[in-house]
Amino acid sequence: EKGGYEHFMLKEIFEQPKSIHDTLRGRLLVEEGIIKMAGIWDHLERLNQAQKITIIACGTSWHAGLIGEYLIEEFARIPVEVEYASEFRYRNPIITDKDIVIAISQSGETADTMAAIKMAKEKGAFVYGICNVVDSSISRITDAGSYTHAGPEIGVASTKAFTSQLTVLSLIALKLGKHNGHLSNQEFMKLITELDALPKKVEEVLESTHEHVKEIAKHFIGAQNFLYLGRGYNFPAALEGALKLKEISYIHAEGYPAAEMKHGPIALIDENMPIVIIAPKQGHYDKIVSNVQEIKARKGRIIALVNKGDTQVASVADFVIEFPETSECFSPIIASIPLQLLAYYIAVYRGANVDQPRNLAKSVTVE
Ligand code: M6R
Repeated sequence: EKGGYEHFMLKEIFEQPKSIHDTLRGRLLVEEGIIKMAGIWDHLERLNQAQKITIIACGTSWHAGLIGEYLIEEFARIPVEVEYASEFRYRNPIITDKDIVIAISQSGETADTMAAIKMAKEKGAFVYGICNVVDSSISRITDAGSYTHAGPEIGVASTKAFTSQLTVLSLIALKLGKHNGHLSNQEFMKLITELDALPKKVEEVLESTHEHVKEIAKHFIGAQNFLYLGRGYNFPAALEGALKLKEISYIHAEGYPAAEMKHGPIALIDENMPIVIIAPKQGHYDKIVSNVQEIKARKGRIIALVNKGDTQVASVADFVIEFPETSECFSPIIASIPLQLLAYYIAVYRGANVDQPRNLAKSVTVE
């Protein structure tokens, strides 16, 4: 059942070219220049007239939600808030029948997300679900939704479900933006063409980074802390990279927006602090370059994720992982792959049970 892989997690990491393809299948019709999503189409007016969209989720799904915020605000120009379901439900949030709530959940069974949806519905909001498990509780109580179609995810650490959530959120943002006029046809066509190429790029990055990341991981088996940094779309990707590492390797890791480093975390940096920095060409590259220099000046050990052919960041970093270029909005999908592999191999070398980490369950049905 593990298809020749040592763990479900590794199998699921390697399934991503296919799972992303499955998420796009039947929805992204590049030649016709359309995105077909019945759940969005049927409620297009309500969605596009929303004054605010609130995304609720937990864990990795919450990280996907943060990237969803960037996507929807950039392309559809609708204000988005992202909340932990567990915070949202206990704080009497301002939600009316004019609100749209998007709930994201791989399992579709997370207790806090479920309770938050019920509360939003009682307040009259229209609730849209993004679930992976077909016919799960959340997919049944939401007013409409889209499945991620990533296939069963067995490893407790979410991998392919995350990249499929990002893919669905990209489709939604582009479709809303196209229909509400905020996205020009030309820009729309350019972005959907790139979206269509993602499965191929994910395959490429798996092939080109797998062995290399496995080697890099050996250098960090004894680390006690890790810092993950990224900007813009890759800030949530940094949070997700850190979550993966802490869940399965039990190494303490934190994600930060790179520019926040100087407001505190920089005090932690010395030769014992490994720092993973996501630094694609787009998205304030020059700022990232100076962040990397600041870290090096304090002797931090840098693992940099850069686009192919990068020299500036690469020349300062201790370890370099190259990944293919895309528009900034899709870069978290690509950058997440080596981060998953890094967490996986560090955990494996430390002898941890990666598929079933201690104290964790695949779906958290307790509050
Ligand atoms: O099934 P859900 O997406 O609702 O689960 C939410 C979180 O419990 C989940 O993402 C958790 O953080 C994972 N173990 C992350 O790898």
